[in-house]
Amino acid sequence: MESKTIAPIVISIVAFIIAIAALSASYKTAPAPQAQITGFDNKTPITTTHGTITLDRIAEIQPGLGTVMIEYGTRFYTMYYAAKSGNWDLAQYQMKEALEIQEVGEYTRPGRAASLKNFEASFLETLNTTMNSKDWNAFQTTYNNTIDGCNGCHVANGFPYIKYTLPSSPPNLP
Ligand code: HEC
Repeated sequence: MESKTIAPIVISIVAFIIAIAALSASYKTAPAPQAQITGFDNKTPITTTHGTITLDRIAEIQPGLGTVMIEYGTRFYTMYYAAKSGNWDLAQYQMKEALEIQEVGEYTRPGRAASLKNFEASFLETLNTTMNSKDWNAFQTTYNNTIDGCNGCHVANGFPYIKYTLPSSPPNLP
């Protein structure tokens, strides 16, 4: 008698649990709703606190090689003095960041990408090896060759007057 009344209750509880589980599974797998933006293109003005700007314009003002190179110069300056003071971790960090900003230049100025890649393979990889082995003498020689490589590329690209030289006093190392 007792089992007859309990059985339907147990069955409905089990069915209820299965239904909840199925429902939560379907929530997890449901694709996120896609925002539909209509009437928007590269020339649509986007309002800022200063005026308006378009996607076209945002793409156009991404950092070119001049901006990338200012960062490159600073990083190679810090790299040298970090290595000189025996802070190889900081020197390697500067190399990693220099390669990252170089990638920005390769992306925004694809015409220069091959030269930048070539410079990386011809000079930066060797320089990195001297940092891995914490070899100051080898680093110094390779660093000077690298700077010749920098300036060689400036000449080759029509900027002979951009002659990078290492500042004679160290920066405030971070
Ligand atoms: C792929 C060729 C290439 C290589 C390699 C290269 N540069 Fe340059 N660099 C340029 C070009 C091109 C410019 C001129 C920027 C422009 O196009 O507006 C420049 C400009 C500069 C400037 C002047 C930036 C400014 O506007 O004041 C500095 C500083 C500089 N480079 C440093 C370096 C250093 C340091 C290295 C090496 C570690 C290096 N560059 C390697 C191509 C190169």
